[in-house]
Amino acid sequence: MVLAVPSKKLLAIKGISDAKCEKILECARQLKPVGFLSGSDFLLASTRARVRITTGSKELDRVLGGGIETGSVTEFFGEFRCGKTQIAATLAVTCQLAREDGGAAGKVLIMDTENAFRPERIAEIATKRYGLDGNMVLDNVLIARCHNHEQQCEMLQAVAAKITDAAEPFKLLVVDSIMGLFRVEFAGRGELSERQQKLGQHVRELVKIAAEFNVAVVVTNQVTADPGNMFVADAKKPIGGNLLAHYVHTRVYLKKGKGNQRIAKIYAGPLPEEDATFAITEGGICDVE
Ligand SMILES: Nc1ncnc2c1ncn2[C@@H]1O[C@H](COP(=O)(O)OP(=O)(O)O)[C@@H](O)[C@H]1O
Ligand SMILES: [Mg+2]
Repeated sequence: MVLAVPSKKLLAIKGISDAKCEKILECARQLKPVGFLSGSDFLLASTRARVRITTGSKELDRVLGGGIETGSVTEFFGEFRCGKTQIAATLAVTCQLAREDGGAAGKVLIMDTENAFRPERIAEIATKRYGLDGNMVLDNVLIARCHNHEQQCEMLQAVAAKITDAAEPFKLLVVDSIMGLFRVEFAGRGELSERQQKLGQHVRELVKIAAEFNVAVVVTNQVTADPGNMFVADAKKPIGGNLLAHYVHTRVYLKKGKGNQRIAKIYAGPLPEEDATFAITEGGICDVE
């Protein structure tokens, strides 16, 4: 962890002198020597502990390659009411299930930037769908409201500290939504480059948290019209420009279907561009009956 931070940043912390900084780095290097691994060892080390968490819908899991993956960042984007927060609420329950039941037996952190997260909803999914004790499930979910983008960015330090100090592992971090505060707080044209710079750093830190702690990071995002796409009428694209595309591992576009049905489309990333239809029910995200 320490080795991943440029020494410039360590030195910026009050009370850390040049000598102290060097001492800290020396200890860290002893604990974790820097070096090369063969390709096969590297693959083994990076995939060994990875777990897939079910979304609650087998069909959605299928297009995701088996569910959302720990160690990577998954983005769900789409219009209002297309199910982004419901997916996150369902994952907050399924993440806690045993491995053989599609879970990761892990705890959950939720950063809510839209003031839209209802703990009661998590409890409802836990009891009605999975027959679990709602309060026990909620005990394993930490929710933090972020009121501005600075809080949102700074929160990741608290997130890393929580994960490091936890007796039982955290396996899911949700940011619902990633762009909402950035979008309103950097509204002017002249502020775009500052926004992208801060957003870039935030997303890189999320990628780092995913990889370092083997946590599944799920971010939600809003959409804007995509006038550049002349092949699809009413085409939409996620906000944030190309920046998020560089760092997010899997991007999923959500669209409304009929009634409570929703369509998920793999938008970018290593997975095949497939569609899945699922439903939003009292029990959370489900397959269509
Ligand atoms: N308890 C529930 N039972 C069934 N459907 C629900 C429940 N709670 C929310 N929904 C449905 O979820 C949808 C809203 O999804 P949401 O995840 O909040 O959208 P988004 O976050 O993309 O704006 C609505 O269509 C709503 O009817
Ligand atoms: Mg929402």
